[in-house]
Amino acid sequence: MNDLRCPLCKQPLYTNSQGMACDNRHQFDRAKEGYFNLLPVQHKNSREPGDAKEQLLARRQFLEAGFFGALKQDLQALMPKQTQTLLDIGCGEGYFTRGFAEVLPQAQVYGIDIAKAGVRLAAKSAQDKNRHVFAVASSFDLPFADHSMDVITRIYAPSKDAELWRVIKPEGLLVIVTPADTHLLELRRRIYKDVRAHQHPSAPAGFVACGQHRLQGDLIVDSPALCAALLAMTPFAWRLPEALQAEIVATGIKDSFDFMISLYRRS
Ligand SMILES: C[S@@+](CC[C@H](N)C(=O)[O-])C[C@H]1O[C@@H](n2cnc3c(N)ncnc32)[C@H](O)[C@@H]1O
Ligand SMILES: [Zn+2]
Repeated sequence: MNDLRCPLCKQPLYTNSQGMACDNRHQFDRAKEGYFNLLPVQHKNSREPGDAKEQLLARRQFLEAGFFGALKQDLQALMPKQTQTLLDIGCGEGYFTRGFAEVLPQAQVYGIDIAKAGVRLAAKSAQDKNRHVFAVASSFDLPFADHSMDVITRIYAPSKDAELWRVIKPEGLLVIVTPADTHLLELRRRIYKDVRAHQHPSAPAGFVACGQHRLQGDLIVDSPALCAALLAMTPFAWRLPEALQAEIVATGIKDSFDFMISLYRRS
């Protein structure tokens, strides 16, 4: 498993009976759910960094109901068939990571997230514990070897340009998904007086754009439980007064999804 490197000394990590270790004997045990914790304590800037468990469970419930299925399918169709290694940055509970694994049956698929609760959920639902490896790690200090990934995906998560550049193979493909202008616009209108347009993504340093497309559609949610899940997984919706949240849950959501899918290669 030499795609992974030690987060402490940057040497390759090798599999052993308890998990993985480097030549400097830094040992990382496999948790019972199958994931690894590769986030050095000194890099944690809070006790439970990243999204909270409730948010991740809401995300799983909403995504598994298929509302963003069109995005999953579009992303699946973009995956080069010859992909051997893929890294999903900020994988959350792993909905899209599982989608990538489904269409790349030969590939080694990695998912990292800074939220342990997300990585735990993702690892529990991994189809193949050897080929689908999830780790708690920061996208600002990726525990992966230089030029180890054919594909890096980043769906609504932060990252550091220099780390993307270091980890991707010279011919690799970087896929970034960001919200576009009408994404959850009705909901945002209920919260903000002036709804700001989303920033258009620009190429990370060291990359050039090689494709971009927008995916838009209606987002109609009738079920109160799923409306509540959408509000819970959407940080800006937490600003809604409780009475308005209850009203939205009771009356349903009629909104739009709007994603920008941007593709990059190293320049
Ligand atoms: C909006 S969620 C998207 C999750 C997943 N990509 C999906 O679409 O279902 C953003 C994720 O980024 C993670 N995250 C935030 N900061 C991070 C960092 N520095 N390194 C890795 N993950 C991070 C959060 O914990 C959260 O799971
Ligand atoms: Zn080490």
